[in-house]
Amino acid sequence: MHFKNFDIAAFLGNSWQKKPLLIKNPWAAWANPLEPDELAGLACEEGVESRLITQPDAVWKLEHGPLAEDRFDSLGNKNWTLLVQAVDQHVPTVAALIEPFRFIPNWRIDDVMVSFAADGGGVGPHFDQYDVFLIQGSGRRRWKVGGRCDVQSALLPHDDLRLLANFEAAETFICEPGDIVYIPPGYSHEGVALGDNCMTYSIGFRAPSRSELIGDWCDDLLADMQGDDRYGDPDLAIQNNPGEISTSAVDRLHAMITDKMGNREAFSRWFGEYSSTPKYPEMDWQPDEKIEMEDLREQLQQGAQLARNPASRFSFIRRESSKFFLFVDGRSIECGGDTIPFAETLCAKALLTIDEQQTNSNSVMALILDMYNRGSLAFEPQD
Ligand code: SIN
Ligand code: CO
Repeated sequence: MHFKNFDIAAFLGNSWQKKPLLIKNPWAAWANPLEPDELAGLACEEGVESRLITQPDAVWKLEHGPLAEDRFDSLGNKNWTLLVQAVDQHVPTVAALIEPFRFIPNWRIDDVMVSFAADGGGVGPHFDQYDVFLIQGSGRRRWKVGGRCDVQSALLPHDDLRLLANFEAAETFICEPGDIVYIPPGYSHEGVALGDNCMTYSIGFRAPSRSELIGDWCDDLLADMQGDDRYGDPDLAIQNNPGEISTSAVDRLHAMITDKMGNREAFSRWFGEYSSTPKYPEMDWQPDEKIEMEDLREQLQQGAQLARNPASRFSFIRRESSKFFLFVDGRSIECGGDTIPFAETLCAKALLTIDEQQTNSNSVMALILDMYNRGSLAFEPQD
């Protein structure tokens, strides 16, 4: 699946994080990647996050999955929607929908949520914290998009749903299969299915809040700190007033914090590990039996391709000192020589063919072996 008519540079310059946009079917050939029955099946599975939103008697109701299979029998053909989170982790054709959006860095990408709605179904007027591309898979949906909201925006009283009390649309888009609506963080929106078979794919992004970032970075720092690393003042001088916390004491106390928290090298390595930690670690691709180097090399020499586990996140940081860290599944791996171009390709491509120079390189092969045996990579099934 790829774009035929989509100007990425213009999108980034004019719309990304700035304003909503309707992108009329930009695909070379749009094909809906998932059947409604398969989505319903996922919503019945343990370990898959799903929600069912209904509006009986105009009252919004939320149920969490896993749903009983016969739950769908009594829903009727109006005013309900089923939403399943992270479908990309379960269905490769849905994971492939992320690929055209790789102009946004890997670490910003979250997952693909898929919704199915009966005529009139939707989740109500709301706003999200993150950017989202809403791809119309099948059927039609009317999107109404309003202005920017924030934590002060009034919500309807509801225990489970965060619906806006006052929603005014500034724009209305009618989406047909293949059309995409982009919504920046905070913009109010409401999508309502027009007719049957309305499926929408939400490519969601993530961005850490300052409080998450500070809290999680501090937790990591604290884990390595010793209780005896304490304030000291062997140069204590006589003060005029014992009540004063002196400038030199404040400087020294403040430095105790900034020395640790201001360490950019340590921060960047921690952030790479942190942001590559899988959200759904249960997507375990670890082989039952570890593969041996000889077997791995032979299969790759015969042209076997490697696929990235959709739950694994791959990224890297290049340091000025020519240091290069690859981050996979919450781990950092320092690369050098041949492993640098290999790691660059690994981060850029979902499917890898390993060339002769790489199968002959012990360091590249050791890296592949390690990732294969940990379940970050697996052979792509040949058909
Ligand atoms: C939907 O697919 O119905 C909801 C997506 C959204 O508004 O975030
Ligand atoms: Co939304």
